[in-house]
Amino acid sequence: MADLLAGRHILVTAGPTREPIDPVRYISNHSSGKQGYAIAAACAALGARVTLVAGPTALDDPSGVTIIHVETARDMLAAVEGALPADVFIAVAAVADWRPAESSDRKLKLDKAAFSSLPLVENPDILKTIAAHHDSRPGLVIGFAAETHDVDALARAKRDRKGCDWIVANDVSGDVMGGSDNAVLLVTKDASEHWARAPKTEVAEKLASRIASALA
Ligand code: CTP
Repeated sequence: MADLLAGRHILVTAGPTREPIDPVRYISNHSSGKQGYAIAAACAALGARVTLVAGPTALDDPSGVTIIHVETARDMLAAVEGALPADVFIAVAAVADWRPAESSDRKLKLDKAAFSSLPLVENPDILKTIAAHHDSRPGLVIGFAAETHDVDALARAKRDRKGCDWIVANDVSGDVMGGSDNAVLLVTKDASEHWARAPKTEVAEKLASRIASALA
């Protein structure tokens, strides 16, 4: 049981990204990193070599995992590409979709900064980039989705749009962001599977063993 993922390299992103406006301000989100950290730990527990690329969180580094700490989406993409090749890529991070077009080295003053019309540019989509990687696309690419309604249809559309193999859709009508539980719909090429609300650690263990079966 303990070595079901032995010899496999699993690459995971987790947490939020932080996009600087100036030295004291940034754009980010409430992702706690708990689900991604739990998945990294669960894969390591099954014997995988795990690289975890994590945005800023309050969590302790999981043991038995190589962790690369990053702040921005662009740093996260560079770290992920630098960690390839991998057998599996799991994009759990809540990447900020937009960043300020420029970040100032000096603290912006309210009277000078046009905060009301801060120009933003789109961040790279890490999941889509890795799923379309020419030379080193991992054999199994897994994305996450947060949906409040039409979970199956929206997750399936996201799977197609991102070019990944599986989508783990979180039903975020409850307290998932920052909470300890997660209700999941696993969307694969041919099927959708409901997983009852469970602690994020249990969801992680279930996903790790599903990955092991898929690779076997
Ligand atoms: N993702 C990523 N890079 C981004 C944005 C998202 O790698 N710049 C990944 C996330 O890690 C996750 C999936 O893509 O695996 C989520 O896709 P996204 O389109 O952001 O979905 P939601 O967060 O559910 O948001 P929405 O459907 O509202 O766009």
